[in-house]
Amino acid sequence: MDPKKWAAIAAVLIFIWVGLSANLYPRDRNGNEAQYSLMREVNNMIISIVTSSWPSSSNEVTTEPNNKPGHVLLSPNLSTCHGSLTDEGRPIYCCPPKRESDEPFIDFQFPDNTSLVRIRRPAQKVDKEYIAKYNRALSIMKSLPYDDPRSFWRQADVHCVFCSGAYNQLHSNHLLKIHRSWLFFPWHRMMLYFHERILGSLIGDDTFALPFWNWDNPKGMLIPDMYLNGSFYDSQRESAHLPPQVADINFDYVERGLGPEDQIEANIAFMYHQMVSGAKKTELFMGCPYKAGEEGFCDGPGTIELAPHNALHTWVGNTQNPERENLGAFYSAAKDPVFYAHHANIDRLWDVWTGLRGNKAEINDPDWLDSYFYFYDEKSQNVRIKIRDVLDMTKLRYTYEPIDNPWLNARPMPSVPPKIARHILKMRDSQNELQLSKKNLSPNFGPEGVTLDTTIRARVPRPKTHRTKKEKAEEEEILVVYGIEIKKDMYVKFDVFVNAVDETIIGPESREFAGTFVNMRRGVRIVMNKNDVVTKRKTNLKLGISELLEDLEADEDERIWVTLVPRAGTCINTTVDGVRIEYMR
Ligand code: C2O
Repeated sequence: MDPKKWAAIAAVLIFIWVGLSANLYPRDRNGNEAQYSLMREVNNMIISIVTSSWPSSSNEVTTEPNNKPGHVLLSPNLSTCHGSLTDEGRPIYCCPPKRESDEPFIDFQFPDNTSLVRIRRPAQKVDKEYIAKYNRALSIMKSLPYDDPRSFWRQADVHCVFCSGAYNQLHSNHLLKIHRSWLFFPWHRMMLYFHERILGSLIGDDTFALPFWNWDNPKGMLIPDMYLNGSFYDSQRESAHLPPQVADINFDYVERGLGPEDQIEANIAFMYHQMVSGAKKTELFMGCPYKAGEEGFCDGPGTIELAPHNALHTWVGNTQNPERENLGAFYSAAKDPVFYAHHANIDRLWDVWTGLRGNKAEINDPDWLDSYFYFYDEKSQNVRIKIRDVLDMTKLRYTYEPIDNPWLNARPMPSVPPKIARHILKMRDSQNELQLSKKNLSPNFGPEGVTLDTTIRARVPRPKTHRTKKEKAEEEEILVVYGIEIKKDMYVKFDVFVNAVDETIIGPESREFAGTFVNMRRGVRIVMNKNDVVTKRKTNLKLGISELLEDLEADEDERIWVTLVPRAGTCINTTVDGVRIEYMR
């Protein structure tokens, strides 16, 4: 955008700001949060426009922990925080008030190993005393001035900074973002760790633990009651999704209209897919390896990040707002207190998944282990913390109250008996060959790709058939939907089915469901500094299908039928280059 345009916007914003300040400020002090945060946003935008960004690279932190010379680890350049934009092109500014690179930091230290372990409990099970205590801590946190790094609004903005690309990476102009890759789980674990300890310290309770929103359990599939009152309340939630509405953890903008029992069943089946059959290899669950610089960029979220994580953000956010704020847009998500309970469950599921696989180290790549970030702790100290620091919850002195995971054995059944399905599909193919719809048969859609404005069907060859049990355990068969290009940064969702006879009537509760692709708006498409780089590449969706093929008795088939089903008209600007099978060790 050219400077004149900015100046005009700045003038208009200052005008609005002066008007709003007079009207809203007196009320803010009385705890009107929605308006308070609106004010902050307007304020921030103005600061960002008037001061523009800090000069970059003047003050890089150059002492990197344990690093080989010449090798760049992923971390934010604290001197670069700058305004960023949402998808709608609305400027946002979530940087801290003072340049963080000017402040001293300390390296992370584990809490004393004799300190009491904090036990995070499911939100549906906590008692009145606990709620009162948490409410008190949260209201203190919300009342701290924005200058105080422990303040709720500051912490919400830390999430905004890292999701909207407000920091550049150290030693490069590439923006740093923490979604859609293997940074997702550890970064959010760090955020919650500090958030929880700050809450506890504000009420002098060093056993305080966050609750988790247990949305994968029938007892927890509603927005937990406690979030409807007191400092947990957020006016910007979709009113149709408040209790007693059962959450659709695979929500795609369209109300499914299922009754509570059917919705619960669909959720459980979906969880099985995302946690078990679709997550048999590290990358499938953790996300792609995102590293420093141009070369290190990747865009490939793990199963749980795609959904329920993204889906529930969207489901909770208010449809009336341009980007489904608060929870529905990353830049505003952490302003809703339920964000922390949502993420506590995500964090728990990471632990459950690791446990299912024998608690082994899943990723040994030092680039991941040594990637580092900064957070303020309960003493308002800036702490540098590495991913390797947050892999062991025991050392972090918190844990989750054990609870039944009802999806664990919910292996779905095929919607049509596999033999009959194959027969029907074969007949259909021979009819199609006589007609002209060639596009529907070849798994390579050509250099232009195909637009996903309608359902796409392809017959995909399998390089290996008749694999032994051992081979299958070693190598997961992966269905790759490659070259996904989203032409306009918008919400996109499509589902993938294998050997489906009628994909219009089935979903995750059927074995034919291979997985889903969800793209949240990210708002990092546009940069504020003209030298900053946003890498954008076509995306691949990788789905583990070994177990599914077994259940569909398609294990020995040389080809399978794959169907891509766009959801809710969201894929009109999305093209796909093709579908293929790969193997992942
Ligand atoms: Cu960083 Cu749930 O988002």
